[in-house]
Amino acid sequence: MSLASPSPRALLLAAACLSGAAGAQSFDEVPFVTSADNVTLEMLRIAGVGSKDHVIDLGSGDGRIVITAASRFGATGLGVEIVPELVEKSRRAAQQAGVAGKVDFRIQDLFKTDLSPATVVTMYLLPDVNLQLRPALLKLAPGTRIVSHDWDMGDWLPDQTTVLPVPDKTVGLEKSSKVHLWVVPARVEGLWCGTGAATDTRLKLAQQHQVVQGTLTHGPRSQLVTGRLEGARLQGPDLGLEATGGELRITRAVEALGLPAGTSLRRAAGERC
Ligand SMILES: C[S@@+](CC[C@H](N)C(=O)[O-])C[C@H]1O[C@@H](n2cnc3c(N)ncnc32)[C@H](O)[C@@H]1O
Repeated sequence: MSLASPSPRALLLAAACLSGAAGAQSFDEVPFVTSADNVTLEMLRIAGVGSKDHVIDLGSGDGRIVITAASRFGATGLGVEIVPELVEKSRRAAQQAGVAGKVDFRIQDLFKTDLSPATVVTMYLLPDVNLQLRPALLKLAPGTRIVSHDWDMGDWLPDQTTVLPVPDKTVGLEKSSKVHLWVVPARVEGLWCGTGAATDTRLKLAQQHQVVQGTLTHGPRSQLVTGRLEGARLQGPDLGLEATGGELRITRAVEALGLPAGTSLRRAAGERC
């Protein structure tokens, strides 16, 4: 398979991790090492990977994350990796693990990878690479899980983080690794208008990634609402919502407004309902 011209940055990451596969290496002040076994397992556990999942590992190194996803959790997977030797090594390892039929490894630039088939995306990259990937990750289907070893995603705060001991870690000062999980939130910002019998209902929402706040109006009464999205579901003290396609469904009655559960809202076509 041909490789679309990799950037110098990509080659830097690649060279660093090739060395990392045999141990750890500091490269241009940025240390690299493949994920330790306990970290690999935690990355898959925290995402709740199971047999219905398709895991894409961006920069798959020796293939360990995708192979473990298939052999231990029954998932299918794709590893994209810029170094042909690592892809060869991954394919051999998949054969040996008996999961060659469930996983695929491609020589491919992670920035040119179609992420839409993924239900889980895993990464052990660099902070600025995570930030470059962030817009594409936020466009994935609500509920898609993103897991990053060590590096965060700026002001898109993780939904969960665990810290694991890694006594053999030879990069950095700490003998531990962080595993961060994000669940891609539905995009609910904007004005939503009640449908059917609820034409006097509207919901105006502002959204900062998983965090949502706004105003719910029903007839003459309004109330402020807040909540946190987990994928397509919002759970707040005063509002429960589920996003499906272009629709929002209120999952709990809002008694203060006399609004029943099950009320549906559609995105406003313009500035008003
Ligand atoms: C830190 S290693 C992580 C390997 C593996 N995911 C793990 O956690 O054990 C990062 C990997 O990304 C690969 N890589 C770097 N830039 C890449 C790019 N633009 N496209 C695909 N792979 C890339 C490197 O070759 C390296 O194997």
